[in-house]
Amino acid sequence: MRGKQLYEGKAKVLFEGPEAGTIIQYFKDDATAFNAQKKGTINGKGVINNVISELIMLRLTELGIPTHFIRRINMREQLVRSVEIVPLEVVVRNVAAGSICKRLGLEEGDMLDESLVEFCYKDDELGDPLIAQEHALAFGWADEEELDDIVHYTHRINDFLRGLFFGIGLRLVDFKLEFGRLETEEGTMIVLADEISPDSCRLWDVETNEKMDKDRFRRDLGGIEEAYQEVARRLGVLPKSGLQEDTTED
Ligand code: TMP
Ligand code: ASP
Repeated sequence: MRGKQLYEGKAKVLFEGPEAGTIIQYFKDDATAFNAQKKGTINGKGVINNVISELIMLRLTELGIPTHFIRRINMREQLVRSVEIVPLEVVVRNVAAGSICKRLGLEEGDMLDESLVEFCYKDDELGDPLIAQEHALAFGWADEEELDDIVHYTHRINDFLRGLFFGIGLRLVDFKLEFGRLETEEGTMIVLADEISPDSCRLWDVETNEKMDKDRFRRDLGGIEEAYQEVARRLGVLPKSGLQEDTTED
């Protein structure tokens, strides 16, 4: 089903899909942090991120939020629509953690009065610097209408995800989204792209405050595989057949 390899990123490989305008996303177990200065493997991560992202994309589609997702192919691969990625990392913060603590001298765990949407310019060489929306406009990374759509969808996604995770005893501290431009007969539209998974979210257990996301890898906290599996288990998507390599059609 896979065509030629188009791109290899830090956590995924993209291949041409079976039809024009489609792409296959293959989810790897590779993990990186701090702009790839730290590298490692989280066994089974690719499978878990694939099924978690599938669940979330499907639920968002039901809510009327357009995404690139078409369907999951197997344990490691999903079929998505080919989009032009907007070179912005859109970060939503509900609780202070990570880079904002360093930047603004906040205590990790401080509740933010309002959810905060931040933009970073997606450029590894520059370390994905924080920018204002005005930079995106000034440098032509996105236009005003696209930014309006991105901010609107981002707040709706945050509302949905906070509820979804709270329902399984997890606090959604922050997360990162990427959007793409999809060409349609009616014109170009903004859709959610990439993935939503414990790689791109901070999730803390509501009872114990235990970290259940990639911070376990970033900060060498141990129990990484178990944390990813626990998030999938609580969401009801932990594969019963285990997490072995499998790229056959389901
Ligand atoms: P930060 O606190 O390091 O800026 O991260 C904010 C959120 O964005 C956190 O949930 C992790 C996620 N994130 C990514 O998914 N990819 C990245 O490259 C970075 C820096 C953060
Ligand atoms: N994935 C990013 C990297 O390797 C950063 C992170 O998630 O911490 O650089």
